[in-house]
Parts: sequence; C-alpha cells; structure tokens
Amino acid sequence: MLEQLAQDIKAVFAEADRLIAAAKTVDELRQAEGRLTGKQGTLGKLLAAIGKLPADQRSPAGSQINQAKKDIAERFAAARAALAQAADRHAAAVAQAFDPTLPGQVVPRGSVHPVTAVQWEVEDILSRLGFIVAAGPEMETDYYNFEALNIPALHPARDMQDTFWLTNGRLLRTHTSPCQVRAMERLGPPLRVIAPGRCFRYETEDASHANTFFQLEGLMIDREISIANLIAVMKLILNEIFHRDVKIRLRPGFFPFVEPGFELDMSCEICGGTGCPTCKRTGWVEILPCGMVHPNVLRFGRIDPREYTGFAFGLGLTRLAMMKYGVHDIRALNSGDLRAIVRPEQRGGPAIIAKD
Ligand code: PHE
Repeated sequence: MLEQLAQDIKAVFAEADRLIAAAKTVDELRQAEGRLTGKQGTLGKLLAAIGKLPADQRSPAGSQINQAKKDIAERFAAARAALAQAADRHAAAVAQAFDPTLPGQVVPRGSVHPVTAVQWEVEDILSRLGFIVAAGPEMETDYYNFEALNIPALHPARDMQDTFWLTNGRLLRTHTSPCQVRAMERLGPPLRVIAPGRCFRYETEDASHANTFFQLEGLMIDREISIANLIAVMKLILNEIFHRDVKIRLRPGFFPFVEPGFELDMSCEICGGTGCPTCKRTGWVEILPCGMVHPNVLRFGRIDPREYTGFAFGLGLTRLAMMKYGVHDIRALNSGDLRAIVRPEQRGGPAIIAKD
C-alpha cells in the first residue's frame, strides 16, 4: 500500500512541476497549489484515505503526505517569487524602454548675430540696386580715417570722434567712411559700393553707446546724382528692413566729408515714437547720417567733381539691429546674453532686454 502512496505522491510532484511551468501569474500559481494541497485537492484526498490503511501504515503514510505537502508548498512559493521578480524586471524594462513617439531632445544650435542678420539683409537690398559689397581694414591710417575725408589735422571735427590711437601711429577706424576714398581709388566712377564693418570709439558706454559697433557705409557716384536719389535709396532700405512705410525726418547735419550733410532719423521702434531711454525721450533715433559727397573728398578719390556727384551714408547697423529686434541696451549685443543675441524668429518670441 505504501508503494502505491509513494507513486501517487510522485505523480503529485510531477503535476506540480507541470502546473508551475504553465502558470503565467501569481494568482494562477495559487489556484494550482490549492488544487494539489487543499482539502479537496489531490494530497487532501490522499490524506483522507489514510483511515482505510492498516493501522501500522497510517503514521508513515501521514508523515509522507505532510512532507510532500511542505515540499510542494515550497516549490510554489519559489515559483511565485520568481514570477514576481520577472514581473518587476519587465516593469523596469518597460519604464526605461525607448519610445519612438516621444519628442526628441532639442540640441541648441548656433545662430547668426542680429547685427550680422541686419547686415546681410541690407547687403541683399542694396545688391539688387547694383551696389557691390566691399571691406576695409579695421586698423586705419590717419589719412583714410580723417585727412582724405576732409578732416585735416587740428580740424575741430576730429573731436566729434574720440579715437583709439595705436602705438604704431595708426588708429582703430572710428567709422566706415575711410572705405569711401579707398573705393573711389580702387573702382573709379561711376560706382555703387557698400562697406559694412566694425568701428571703434573711445566712448563712455551706456544704453545707446558702445566702444565697438557696426556701421555700413554706402557710396554712389555717377553723373547727376542728387539728394532725391539719396532720399529714395535711404527710404527703400528702411522700408525693406522694417517691412512697412517707415516714418523718417531729415535734419541738417555737419560732417566734413559731405555737403550738404543730413541726419536722417526714423521714428523709434522701441517706444513707437512716444519717447524712451533708447531714443533719449525724443521719439526719434538717428540712424542714417548722410549727405552729398564733398568735392574735396571726390578729389582725394581722384574723381573730378565737375563731372561727377554722389551721395554717401553711414548706416548704424548696431542701432538698426536694436530697433529691428527690440533690444533696449546696446551692451547686450556685445555680450553673450542669448536673450538679446538669438533673434526672435529663431527663438519664437520677442527680445526682452530692458534697461530703464
Ligand atoms: N561717418 C559718419 C559717422 O560715423 C557718418 C556718415 C557717413 C555721415 C557718410 C555722412 C556720410 O559719424
């Protein structure tokens, strides 16, 4: 009889192994265990049958069955633990899994500086009118920066431009106007040329003055060039840059290299003309000093003033960039402040540098 019991128990173990292998959840394992070891289960029935055994076999049979019950319970417990662990590992893997539907990481990219952007824009506009783009040296000679521009040594106009003098006798150009005479010498009349570039002045810095800034010189020389041509070109530049009809005004302005000379102002874009620190509370911003090229300058450029006339302008590129991008403080443009130097169209919002 005991042999039969041993076989029955063996079958129960085999059944347990089969059920454990088949179970997919902890619940399934629990139900399977109940079917084997519960009162109504296989082992329960074997236990209930003990009473029918001969008296001397009852005790060993009972302990065999109980031992089997314990072993099977252990197997199921181990299986449950393994299943739970596997479920945890699966959950962790899912949590870390690559999800191709998530938005990618935004890699910050460099962008063109606002001054460069405006410069390229003006170059585009004037190229369409037949102007060529030239460049001159940032370290200039007294001759091109002053002398040939009708500003002789000791001329009081030199005080208008505080100059960084270099120990080699040269200077950091105070404006892009030296490119005028250089262009006349190189190209001869008729000519249309622009020369964008960095300029330097020994200035006290504030919201609208920097010691380093950008200008774009323009020069057009031909027969019968008049102030009307000058105004037409200036208006066109500003209207194209601001994509609307910009309000301008022309005031007489003195520059030794033009006659007559003008200060061309545009209504302040920052405050809309009501007055703010950027426009010194006037509502107007000086943006385009200009005028008809002085005969002496033409002569310095080896051009006959009886035959040719021309106009010249010195567009303040830095100031224009401030107007266009709403940068309130010129110093921000020379700093690494990304709020000022990443242009709004690339950033998706207006510039926000306020220094009141
Ligand atoms: N070079 C002058 C300045 O920087 C500006 C200017 C240029 C004026 C051309 C008239 C004509 O102040």
